[in-house]
Amino acid sequence: MVSSGLLERLTQPLREAGLVFDVFAETIPEPTDTVVQAGVARITPRHDCLLAFGGGSPIDTAKAMSILASNGGKMRDYKAPELADIGKLPVIAIPTTAGTGSEVTRFTVITDAQRDEKMLIAGLGALPLAAIVDYELTFSLPPRITADTGLDSFTHALEAYVSRRANPFSDALAESAMRLIGANLRTAFHEPRNAQARAAMMLGATQAGLAFSNASVALVHGMSRPIGAHFHVPHGLSNAMLLPAVTRFSLQAALPRYAQAARLAGFAGAGDADEAAGTKLLAGLEALNTELAVPTPAQFGIAATAWHQKIQLMAEQALASGSPANNPKIPTLAEIIALYSGLHAVS
Ligand SMILES: NC(=O)c1ccc[n+]([C@@H]2O[C@H](COP(=O)([O-])OP(=O)(O)OC[C@H]3O[C@@H](n4cnc5c(N)ncnc54)[C@H](O)[C@@H]3O)[C@@H](O)[C@H]2O)c1
Ligand SMILES: [Fe+2]
Repeated sequence: MVSSGLLERLTQPLREAGLVFDVFAETIPEPTDTVVQAGVARITPRHDCLLAFGGGSPIDTAKAMSILASNGGKMRDYKAPELADIGKLPVIAIPTTAGTGSEVTRFTVITDAQRDEKMLIAGLGALPLAAIVDYELTFSLPPRITADTGLDSFTHALEAYVSRRANPFSDALAESAMRLIGANLRTAFHEPRNAQARAAMMLGATQAGLAFSNASVALVHGMSRPIGAHFHVPHGLSNAMLLPAVTRFSLQAALPRYAQAARLAGFAGAGDADEAAGTKLLAGLEALNTELAVPTPAQFGIAATAWHQKIQLMAEQALASGSPANNPKIPTLAEIIALYSGLHAVS
């Protein structure tokens, strides 16, 4: 963000407005509690606001800094189901990926570096005061990151739509997001400078964020966080690896919802009956992964033995996160283990 010059888009107007600021640029993708602590150490009494500029990682870092600075202790003290309702400083979030929707969610995801655990931290302390959403900031995203982050937002919309906590407010946002992302993700991937596609993706990502912040995510996200923590797979990519298999697992438990999602996202036609639309959704998600070059865990470079050694622990962590309880079909531990196993056949 610094070396590419993107950060200047933020700092130049601040300087021109005569505002005094510091830059904390030591954020990392998939942020850890160590980085958050380093950030908190930089907060002084003269700071009155945090501007979170970047993808979900810097935005989550800023949110977590505000929460940790409020009452001290360790980041894991704030882990869900604890409620992190207090932030010390207001956060203004400016996303540069069309992905996490973190700019409008009451969540931050921080890895406990010691325990290799991606912790979900939830509460009003994680909700930004304001978001500045400008799709022009996404023109420089390379295709790989466009795909990963776009698949993350599609997963947010779909999971919010089938969640047991879905409601009319989240439905409207999820429906719009699936329509926008379904129609524009491929174009944004193939044509990075396509303004119409970038604008639609950014709007869709923010709407998907509002949707899942009000309806929760479900089994895909529950299983995705442990993959990210143990194997350092970028968040959107681990979601995408899981999405077809988890959708297949869940389909019959919410067929009308999945069928409507397939129609909205363009995987099925308006005239397709539920059963046909559901089948087309599964095929469509597989085809989308192929077109966007989403690797399997094996293709990503994860050895089968390492994967299978971690499955029990990953399944326990997925279940403990609470997200699987929002899934239309609530899985048992054994079912989660089977889903992880199916992603990486033993050779
Ligand atoms: N808080 C939430 O509600 C929420 C929801 C989903 C995911 N997350 C978390 O967000 C994190 C992932 O965020 P992300 O997917 O946005 O990716 P990211 O922030 O990790 O960024 C990925 C890469 O893209 C680069 N990048 C960002 N913007 C760019 C631009 N405009 N041009 C060129 N390069 C750019 C970054 O430098 C980085 O290398 C994960 O830790 C995930 O767990 C949080
Ligand atoms: Fe996500």
